[in-house]
Amino acid sequence: MTKYILALDQGTTSSRAILFDHAGRPHASAQKEFRQIFPQPGWVEHDANEIWASQIGVVQQLLRESGVGVADIAAIGVTNQRETTVLWDRATGEPVANAIVWQDRRNAAFCEQLQEQGKAPLFQDKTGLVLDAYFSGTKLKWLLDNVPRARERAERGELAFGTIDTWLIYKMSGAHITDPSNAARTMLFNIHTLQWDAELLELLDIPAALLPAIVPSSGVAAHTHADLLGAALPIAGIAGDQQAATFGQVCLKPGMAKNTFGTGCFMLMNVGKRPIASKNRLLMTIGWSVGQGAAASTDYLLEGSAFVAGAAVQWMRDGLGIIRDSSEVEALATSVPDTGGMVFVPAFAGLGAPYWDPYARGTLVGITRGTTRAHIARAALEGVAYQNVDVLSAMQKDAAIPLTELRVDGGGARNDMMMQFQADILDVPVVRPVVTETTALGAAYLAGLAVGFWASLEEIAGQWQMARRFEPKMAADERLSRLHKWQRAVDRSRDWSE
Ligand code: G3P
Repeated sequence: MTKYILALDQGTTSSRAILFDHAGRPHASAQKEFRQIFPQPGWVEHDANEIWASQIGVVQQLLRESGVGVADIAAIGVTNQRETTVLWDRATGEPVANAIVWQDRRNAAFCEQLQEQGKAPLFQDKTGLVLDAYFSGTKLKWLLDNVPRARERAERGELAFGTIDTWLIYKMSGAHITDPSNAARTMLFNIHTLQWDAELLELLDIPAALLPAIVPSSGVAAHTHADLLGAALPIAGIAGDQQAATFGQVCLKPGMAKNTFGTGCFMLMNVGKRPIASKNRLLMTIGWSVGQGAAASTDYLLEGSAFVAGAAVQWMRDGLGIIRDSSEVEALATSVPDTGGMVFVPAFAGLGAPYWDPYARGTLVGITRGTTRAHIARAALEGVAYQNVDVLSAMQKDAAIPLTELRVDGGGARNDMMMQFQADILDVPVVRPVVTETTALGAAYLAGLAVGFWASLEEIAGQWQMARRFEPKMAADERLSRLHKWQRAVDRSRDWSE
């Protein structure tokens, strides 16, 4: 019997590979950071070849270091930073330009034009998304409009588009596929019919010949080239990283929600088997699709995202140089009892839900002569948590299901100070599971279910275990006065860049 599922977790700042055992526990892992490219303010790019090299590199490293053979692996699950857009040449497999990353704001003005033309309701009805530069559609249009000869070559069928799942699977297997959870982030996919939408393709001027085929999130969709790892392995799970984390946290029933503290912060709540329309500027997105034909079932999620969480810590390390390693941030932040009255709005890449303001910028209000790097670190961690209050209150209005606890994961969820502050400021218990690698675990679960490594959703749900619960302790008047200050700081961060 095979012993492991191999999960590839291709995130915004690093590529990771993790082997999970039958108990859903990580057995071994490897990780590598790769280059962030900032050609202009507000632009963020990745080299897709570097993404591929780092991803396959960590898989090879993992197998080498753990001593696990390919014969011990039942299947591969792939999960990925979403929306990031790659365009490549089908004949050579070479990207025609750098990938445009989800955080990139270069199409903000174009999205405004679409808004002025009254197209927002059409996009919301069909895709569940708001009109924002975050999603792949306008990124792909930009590449077609700006890379020499890209549009004519795309029309002749010479190029292929993909989000990162598609790109990695293409490199591993030659298949040109994606799953509904990733497709739902492109602005081109109809979340009701579960198909690419001809009207939206026409509106954004995207040739259909570029698009990958849609396959279920859980199901054997392709096999790796035999020479890549020594034997062909089934690729049996695919999901965008936030949906995978929701699955990994086994938020399988309506009303269950998780928040992942990664590069950004992503709160997602299961709303069941049918989409609902957000009235509070949240996203309706596909969680995962399991099974095929008559047995197929799709879960829908309500999502609110803040674009910066771990990225603020990375900035303190790389931009400010006030910490040498991300792990130092908690000790630094807890070396002072409070922020000295400062509020930090980490809107480095604009504000996400529910503001959707691409022109907002990071703002630190209340600096005094007594401000130290410790106060800045504390204010940054608090700022990450404050953003989630705005998201959760929008979510509660949309879903009309009171949240009884918030499951957390991702690197930032290991930060006790931030998790306690999160519980305090949300006034909701925050629960951290034993396995915080829930993104990779979700992809492993989707793959493992497809190949019978795990028998059922019930078996998976039974594996979730709590490690620590943070109860809200802050007095109501203090919470409200802090939230009032936060709102004033958010107002100051808005409409800053041209
Ligand atoms: O939508 C962007 C999201 O998928 C990025 O996730 O984990 O790389 O911050 P992460």
